[in-house]
Amino acid sequence: MTPDAPGPRDLHTERLDLVDFTADDVDLLVELDADPAVTHFITGGLPTSRAEVVHEVLPAFLAYPERFAAGYGFWKAVERATGEFVGWFHLRPGEGHPADEPELGYRLRRSAWGRGLATEGSRALVDAAFERMGARRVVAETMVVHVASRRVLEKAGLRRVRTFHADWPYPIPGDDQGDVEYALTREEWAAARGTSIPGGTSPVA
Ligand SMILES: CC(C)(COP(=O)(O)OP(=O)(O)OC[C@H]1O[C@@H](n2cnc3c(N)ncnc32)[C@H](O)[C@@H]1OP(=O)(O)O)[C@@H](O)C(=O)NCCC(=O)NCCS
Repeated sequence: MTPDAPGPRDLHTERLDLVDFTADDVDLLVELDADPAVTHFITGGLPTSRAEVVHEVLPAFLAYPERFAAGYGFWKAVERATGEFVGWFHLRPGEGHPADEPELGYRLRRSAWGRGLATEGSRALVDAAFERMGARRVVAETMVVHVASRRVLEKAGLRRVRTFHADWPYPIPGDDQGDVEYALTREEWAAARGTSIPGGTSPVA
């Protein structure tokens, strides 16, 4: 398959093509994490080294679809109108959660912020989780002080479940306020759409 051929996990929104990463995407990931504003709430602003991207990050992204039959993994987000890489989204097994409770996440280039793209991509992943991957619940975590991320989760339909204090090695102002867990159940998702609950038990990968 060429990198441009449609893949079984591809998702399309109004403005985004969400597709599989390829082995050629090292530079995109290095550049994304080189912006301290992008990694502020993740590593306190530290970049991810090229070696880490080459040997750990990208291989892990590429391996997800084979490891998880449900179709979980990372999606490269490309703005259709420009063909520009804008960042990534993920649905991956949530730590401490059952296999049918994937964790939603996202990381966008600063140039893409503030245009509703994180919300648009997140909604597509939430729909795919319930429609195509048999998810029972979608979960997410962020810091209490990460207002933009919390807003994205709320606009994608998730609700605040609890506040907790994760052990994290990168101190930033406000981290004493802790972290928040968000979630959306299949029933809540279906009710919000005004639809009956689809089976959604057929894995896509
Ligand atoms: C968090 C992130 C994904 C948001 O992406 P985005 O495309 O700008 O998000 P959206 O435009 O869909 O929505 C952002 C919302 O947060 C609001 N917002 C943004 N910054 C805010 C702030 N400092 N205070 C209050 N609200 C804020 C926006 O107004 C918008 O809400 P609205 O539509 O009600 O006005 C993006 O900033 C990012 O990738 N950051 C770096 C990586 C990261 O932190 N990932 C999350 C880790 S948990």
